[in-house]
Amino acid sequence: MTIRTFAIAPALLAAALALSACSNSEAPADHAEATEHAAPTSSSAGLPEGNIAAGEKLANTKGEATGQSCIDCHGANGNAPIDPTYPKLGNQYADYLAHALQEYRNGNREHALMSSQAKTLTDQQIADLSVWFSSREGELVTLHGAHD
Ligand code: HEC
Repeated sequence: MTIRTFAIAPALLAAALALSACSNSEAPADHAEATEHAAPTSSSAGLPEGNIAAGEKLANTKGEATGQSCIDCHGANGNAPIDPTYPKLGNQYADYLAHALQEYRNGNREHALMSSQAKTLTDQQIADLSVWFSSREGELVTLHGAHD
């Protein structure tokens, strides 16, 4: 029994070392490849590149589900919501907007008004809307300098 354990332990150690050496040497190559293919203007992971003009048009188009456009609720440039509890979208990070819309679409985030708005959006439409709202003047407040 003892003899067998002693015989196996070095073999396992050798295998573990071989595996870790292997993954260490491959990791940098994988990272380099991922960085190379990431388009700087792309939105949330996997979405196509957004088109600002298409996003503007869509943001002003009445949706079938509610009969309202994004602008009807979020206001001009996404900065004048019709209710103070509705978020401002102007100049928000496109990634953030795209992620929020994807979450409403797939049901991870639910809201009576927004879920129905996002349900039928395609990846391209999400990308377009996100870059358009993101390209607007911002009224978002940051805490930069607030604690100096
Ligand atoms: C009927 C009113 C209404 C319409 C139309 C509407 N929204 Fe919204 N939107 C809301 C409300 C209310 C919220 C906040 C929901 C919540 O609390 O999750 C919201 C939230 C969002 C958010 C998340 C913002 C954040 O800071 O997390 C995004 C992005 C968004 N809307 C984009 C859109 C887009 C794009 C359209 C058009 C396709 C649209 N909305 C149409 C009312 C509306």
